[in-house]
Amino acid sequence: MAFPIQRLRRLRRTETLRRLVRETTLHVDDLIYPLFVTHGRGVKQEISSMPGQYRMSVDRLLEEVDEAHSLGVKAVILFGIPDRKDERGSEAYNPEGIVQQAIRSIKKAIPAVAVVTDVCVDEYTSHGHCGILRDGEVDNDLTLEVLGEMALSHAVAGADLVAPSDMMDGRVAHIRRRLDESGLAQVPIMSYAAKYASCFYGPFREAADSAPQFGDRRSYQMDSCNVREALREVELDVEEGADIIMVKPALAYLDVLARIRDRFPLPLAAYNVSGEYSMIMAAGNKGWIDRDRAVWEVLHSIKRAGADLILTYFAKEVASWIHQGKSF
Ligand code: PBG
Repeated sequence: MAFPIQRLRRLRRTETLRRLVRETTLHVDDLIYPLFVTHGRGVKQEISSMPGQYRMSVDRLLEEVDEAHSLGVKAVILFGIPDRKDERGSEAYNPEGIVQQAIRSIKKAIPAVAVVTDVCVDEYTSHGHCGILRDGEVDNDLTLEVLGEMALSHAVAGADLVAPSDMMDGRVAHIRRRLDESGLAQVPIMSYAAKYASCFYGPFREAADSAPQFGDRRSYQMDSCNVREALREVELDVEEGADIIMVKPALAYLDVLARIRDRFPLPLAAYNVSGEYSMIMAAGNKGWIDRDRAVWEVLHSIKRAGADLILTYFAKEVASWIHQGKSF
């Protein structure tokens, strides 16, 4: 029964009708806001490749978390910029490290906000790799030890969710065991299960000063051409005890999100990474695209592909639009 009986334009005629039949909606509860925390007091330093995003000392970070929370954002993910780095990334698991301090401060001041932590040593190692080196290569099993320590120190400081992003084999099982043995069985793990070796992390590496000093991350992060391998990564992480799985980056990997959504019932997160943010900001600032509409379109595409949660630097803006009932 086709045209003229069927006319799909009927439901597109007015904004109200369009909203009535809208299939995908963003909710403030879906958003996780990434934040960079550094030492000092009163520090709020803009990241040049990520306009509108800052490196903040704990006092300024609290103001930012408070503002985000008042807009309805209920979760943040923390990235630390330590004041010293070494071969092992030992600041990563220092109980007095910058992220551990930030966790305690946020949980004390605004306990309703869920604090997620990134578990990976690249910001803390002098060589910038996501693990411990042995004969010039990142050694998987040696790295598990430090990841376990790091996740444990975050959980002890009060993190609500730990998120390993290193791509070592077996890290979910290892972290789960460390947490459970320490009486922290209630702390969930969000695994960056399908994390690709991507150029879209470029601005983040400037922000966190974490670019590898030699080589690249291709021996541990996934090859961007693969999708079946992503399903294997997810399957293993689920078996090892992951509670939430993540795909990263988001935009060039929407097919990966959709495939995982079809196969696995776990909550699924997508990381709308720094390069995806910076591209929209740059083109928007030049007047080449309508920035707000681009953000709207992109975040809905991630949700439509199957993500339940989105980590995005646009979290505050989107939350304020949702709050105002705005639609683009
Ligand atoms: C690793 C980590 C990275 C990002 C999140 N966790 C960088 C990397 O793997 O090089 C990138 C996030 C972004 O680009 O927004 N600690």
